Amino acid sequence: MWNDLRAHHEATRDRPILSLFDDPARAETFSARLGDLLLDYSKTNLDAEGLRLLLALLDKARVAEKRDAMFAGAKINETEGRAVLHTALRNLDGGPVLVDGQDVMPGVLDTLARMEAFATAIREGREAGQGGPYTDVVNIGIGGSDLGPKMGAIALAPYADGPRTHFVSNVDPADIADVLRACDPATTLVIVASKTFTTQETMANAQTAKAWMSQTVRDPAAQFAALSTAGDRTAAFGISPERVFGFEDWVGGRYSMWGPIGLSLMIAIGPDAFRAVLRGGQAMDLHFRSAAWHENLPALLALVGIWHNQVCGHATRAVLPYDNRLSRLPAYLQQLEMESNGKRVAMDGTPLTVDSGPVVWGEPGTNGQHAFYQLIHQGTRVIPCEFLLAARGHEDDLHHQHQLLLANGLAQSEALMRGRSLDEARALMAAKGLTGAELERQASHRVFPGNRPSTTLAYPVLDPFTLGQIVALYEHRVFVEGAILGLNSYDQWGVELGKELASTLAPMVAGEQGTDGKDASTAGLVSFLRAHG
Ligand code: F6P
Repeated sequence: MWNDLRAHHEATRDRPILSLFDDPARAETFSARLGDLLLDYSKTNLDAEGLRLLLALLDKARVAEKRDAMFAGAKINETEGRAVLHTALRNLDGGPVLVDGQDVMPGVLDTLARMEAFATAIREGREAGQGGPYTDVVNIGIGGSDLGPKMGAIALAPYADGPRTHFVSNVDPADIADVLRACDPATTLVIVASKTFTTQETMANAQTAKAWMSQTVRDPAAQFAALSTAGDRTAAFGISPERVFGFEDWVGGRYSMWGPIGLSLMIAIGPDAFRAVLRGGQAMDLHFRSAAWHENLPALLALVGIWHNQVCGHATRAVLPYDNRLSRLPAYLQQLEMESNGKRVAMDGTPLTVDSGPVVWGEPGTNGQHAFYQLIHQGTRVIPCEFLLAARGHEDDLHHQHQLLLANGLAQSEALMRGRSLDEARALMAAKGLTGAELERQASHRVFPGNRPSTTLAYPVLDPFTLGQIVALYEHRVFVEGAILGLNSYDQWGVELGKELASTLAPMVAGEQGTDGKDASTAGLVSFLRAHG
């Protein structure tokens, strides 16, 4: 099957994407919708035969069966013996979800209700700091305990009417110092977000925040809350159980913004708007479970990804939101996609026979246009681009600027596909009065090879429901790509070695231990840093 796909790519790789639009139905046929969400993948080199071959991968990899197993609570995270049920966190009015024969939904809904009561009390000033109602909330967490709520808080800023929300993730003291400087300890709530409650960076920052607060506040622990699966450790930290919001090991860190890890976002935008995020996610779940594959947005996005990465060999994928408030979406997707599908072996431990998931990166348009788009248009490598376009923003009085934003987004996908031929470049130079060798030289710099693929996800406006749809769309895309590759998208053993070595290096960097056993480079760097530290 992979061979058939590669042969098809070889046979079609030089065909201009633009020529596919000779078919007047191309844009319609190579698009899919869910309500107001439109996924247009017609500006790729995929044709009916390519799509047929890709759709066959879904059957071969038994993706429908695996999908149903995930939603049913089967332990599809085989290396950790865990179910994968972040979908239960947004199963607001769905049926029971069983793990080991137990319905998890009563617990999920109970925790959601507790979060809502706590968030509402904070927003109304009934739950207050020792100096008065909370003015600031500081979420301390890293990776999945930071990226989701932070991305969401920026995305939904127009809906924020609660206390100011801040995020601290890096163990670099600069991060927490800059945040705490802007806060009053007497009116700040610190939320320690850590699934395991052992993560070095988060624990170090949590202790720093506690020390900061204890300088002015009589009972600092009373202004702390915790989001974690580890109730024993949150208690040892001194956080009282009524301010601990727990979740189970079947919620992966990078899939956790829907539950307690989303508390800071809920406090910022309010429980109703947070529920709208959940409903958006749930709508995408229903679509993913029920839509035919050729109309199924997550499946189609995954197949386009597989086509570009594993078949065409394009190693990276740029995510380019023309929606400034999605500025952290690329970072969020880096963890979601690269921690999930950055694996070298299949579920059974044998080496993958195709490449793992791609490098994901990006920045909002139009900023990226003035930075790295040069390489996307004229570099030697092809970088498939994923554009996101909101039909309108929240700044009604500045709609003319939003229209400029949209024109830029559309221009980029058109330019990538269309390019500019040497003849066109020559004509431009001739019009400037150039001739001969100089005309040829200047023209060659102005050629755009074109034929560079992109997809566009368009939606009316970035509201809470739409954000929920978008995040769940990408989650399920990752699931489908992982299922086709046959790997485990839900563990992350690749982060462990660095953590272990960091703990052996910490006493060396602190000068408490020599660098015996370290390679000469690492030992030399330790000695340089100690000498200059
Ligand atoms: O190091 C990777 C990781 O385990 C991520 O998967 C996770 O999101 C992050 O660290 C934070 O972990 P925790 O929530 O347990 O602090």
